[in-house]
Amino acid sequence: MTLRPPHLKPFLKWAGGKRQLLPVIRATLNSTQLNSTQLNSTQLNSTQLNSTQLNSTQLYIEPFVGAGAVLFDVMPSRAVINDTNALLITCYRVIRQDVHELIERLEAHAAAHTEDYFYTIRAEDRDESYDAQSPVAQAARLIYLNKTCFNGLYRVNRSGYFNTPYGAYRDPVICDAPVLRAVHCYLRDNDVTILHGDYTIPAREAPPGALVYFDPPYHTPNQRNFTQYAADGFTEANQVELAAVFRQLSAKGVDCLLSNSDTPLMHALYADFHIDIVRATRAINARASERGAVNEVLIRNWS
Ligand SMILES: C[S@@+](CC[C@H](N)C(=O)[O-])C[C@H]1O[C@@H](n2cnc3c(N)ncnc32)[C@H](O)[C@@H]1O
Repeated sequence: MTLRPPHLKPFLKWAGGKRQLLPVIRATLNSTQLNSTQLNSTQLNSTQLNSTQLNSTQLYIEPFVGAGAVLFDVMPSRAVINDTNALLITCYRVIRQDVHELIERLEAHAAAHTEDYFYTIRAEDRDESYDAQSPVAQAARLIYLNKTCFNGLYRVNRSGYFNTPYGAYRDPVICDAPVLRAVHCYLRDNDVTILHGDYTIPAREAPPGALVYFDPPYHTPNQRNFTQYAADGFTEANQVELAAVFRQLSAKGVDCLLSNSDTPLMHALYADFHIDIVRATRAINARASERGAVNEVLIRNWS
């Protein structure tokens, strides 16, 4: 079993982050390995408690990677990760290539941090010069804002400008160098392809035998209109399309796991698969009514 570096964990707070569901996701992912790795019961008990055991050749694909809680828990040696959030993907690439400069820039942000400074940095994307900023400057800005804004919520207005207010934390950890270095080592030492784009591209290319974990934006059933603007722009129509992709991959022999809200639509779309209901607490949500303890579903295509 590969030991997990203690600091390998998400470098951002992220809405929908899966850290609290890791034990149940880990146990579920391990259950797909039973046939292929023939674990005995002693091995099974210890792996279920401590880590996920992909066999070393299995390709792991996470098309909605967010802050990567499950990725860093699974630690696959071959992976494809993807997200539509371009700045988030810039962070992953910068952490792999330029972690030293990133840490220096975050230390500078930490030294200068005040409420006024937060708003000055937040305003940078309104300025024409923003696009000319280097990827490492943009990554440092996002991580700084994420650690100091209200609730770690990534939110942009209709013009695409970051608009979450100041968080007023007493001692925010702006530069978590051990975590950044652990993520850097994982991305550097393993075969991890980092993509920016729609989930359909890495998902449709999943070869038979791969494992795909889908963690889309939560389905919010109170949308007034099927295709109306939804959290992260992911509409009910997108949820229906995603279920079709899940079905196509299942027919192709790809192991698929998906998490989402526990809503009637999820039960209808995935009626042919195994659905477990799990309890989770959502701390970060743009809508106050959707924070707190809720039921979520974990859907898998293996028995
Ligand atoms: C629920 S979050 C994933 C949380 C992640 N598992 C974690 O632990 O942090 C959903 C992610 O999907 C991304 N997203 C939204 N629409 C997408 C799309 N069409 N294709 C790919 N990613 C998308 C969002 O940017 C967000 O990072």
